[in-house]
Amino acid sequence: MISIKSSREIEKMRETCKLATETMEYIEQFVKPGVSTEELNKLCHDYIVERGASPSPLNYHGFPKSICTSKNEVICHGIPSKKDVLKDGDILNIDITTHLNGFHGDTNKTFLVGNVDQKVKDLVDVTYECIMAGIKQVKPGGHIGDIGAVIEELAHSKGYTVVEEYCGHGIGREFHEEPQVVHVGKRGTGAQMKPGMTFTIEPMINLGSRHCKVLKDNWTVITKDKKWSAQFEHTILVTETGFEILTLRSDENVPV
Ligand code: MF3
Ligand code: CO
Ligand code: CO
Repeated sequence: MISIKSSREIEKMRETCKLATETMEYIEQFVKPGVSTEELNKLCHDYIVERGASPSPLNYHGFPKSICTSKNEVICHGIPSKKDVLKDGDILNIDITTHLNGFHGDTNKTFLVGNVDQKVKDLVDVTYECIMAGIKQVKPGGHIGDIGAVIEELAHSKGYTVVEEYCGHGIGREFHEEPQVVHVGKRGTGAQMKPGMTFTIEPMINLGSRHCKVLKDNWTVITKDKKWSAQFEHTILVTETGFEILTLRSDENVPV
């Protein structure tokens, strides 16, 4: 069952998503060569807790940290570590989810660390274009499958591949709710969108093959071929006329 949020619930979704967004904007200044992902984890953890919320990933199905940090060939669910120190030319995805007043807000962004290869910068740019193309499909009466269809088409047209094992998801009182938002597929398939639905769109786009594997820590997902992968994530509300991006940062524009 896909939950439809009431206007009171939507207001709480706006608040938790605003905090997740502010945490992302706060951490940006620290994403530099020499910082460890554990330091980034601690800074985000403290920022969230000081504002009366909690980081949703911490202890979620046993996840040991407060954010996910996924670098280079890591697709998603990377675990922050003191030993994982950023260096010039890396890309780092930081995935932040907050739990505030009973509701979760989920967002992620891939940061460039210093001077990144043009080939990799292009991957990050196209991944951002993919999330925005997906978001533009959101409107009442549209189908969830419309989102994956445009993302898959754009990614493939640029020679990239799309990860299929991990998806966007409904979000609200639960971190992961129905529906699943697959980032590939066919227009006109899947559940119909209705005003008051909230879900994430979070495409993972690869330079090489789409295939992935999970490391022995049982969390870290990497590309099988070790080629690099990028991701962006927003929490979206279906409105009467289209969409609202609940995690829009001040460095972004609403896509038209
Ligand atoms: N935030 C991730 C998502 O976008 C989920 C992380 S689950 C965790 O759905 F346990 F790894 F934190
Ligand atoms: Co998510
Ligand atoms: Co997330």
